[in-house]
Amino acid sequence: MSKPHWRRAHAKDLDAIGAIAARIHPDLPERAEVLAEKMRLYPDGCRVLAAGNEIAGYGLAHPWMQQQIPPLDCFLERLPEDVDCLYVHDVAVLPDHRGGVARAYVAEIEQLARSSGITRLALVSVYGTRLLWERLGFQPVAADAALRDKLASYGGSATYMLRELAE
Ligand SMILES: CC(C)(COP(=O)(O)OP(=O)(O)OC[C@H]1O[C@@H](n2cnc3c(N)ncnc32)[C@H](O)[C@@H]1OP(=O)(O)O)[C@@H](O)C(=O)NCCC(=O)NCCS
Repeated sequence: MSKPHWRRAHAKDLDAIGAIAARIHPDLPERAEVLAEKMRLYPDGCRVLAAGNEIAGYGLAHPWMQQQIPPLDCFLERLPEDVDCLYVHDVAVLPDHRGGVARAYVAEIEQLARSSGITRLALVSVYGTRLLWERLGFQPVAADAALRDKLASYGGSATYMLRELAE
């Protein structure tokens, strides 16, 4: 079987994305329509990990504003006009296919940000993945009270992180 690779997600991948999300994030459920909206608003940021004929993971990102996080399971409605970061909403990969794939996804998203004139990446680290994201160049950022409130819906260990893209 050829090596798993990230490719652009299509509408027909939504069922597979939803199934992986339900398996990997049982405590952070999101409606299929909420995931589908991201694909509609910003298809460039939505990728799936293709492993042969199987979908083994997904990564969803969209332009956003730093120090702001969209609440889980809510529609974005539209992308803001004043964007200053590419926000990685989620990366989730089935256990058998992990190893180097988050790094590969972030490299693609970094390239996308640069080509769109966006100079930083943002995300919320959950499940104690902070060290993993630090390995990929993200730094934890002190959250103000408003951001702390929003982070609460992501669970106790949720940490807001940014990565500045060097020129
Ligand atoms: C997060 C996830 C996609 C990472 O996939 P992966 O293929 O294992 O990640 P990578 O191997 O590309 O890891 C990136 C780097 O972090 C390192 N790393 C991996 N796990 C780590 C850990 N627990 N602690 C510290 N570093 C870690 C890797 O060694 C790699 O560094 P290197 O390239 O310098 O060796 C996968 O673990 C997953 O789906 N987890 C469940 C969902 C989840 O937590 N998503 C994140 C939500 S914020």
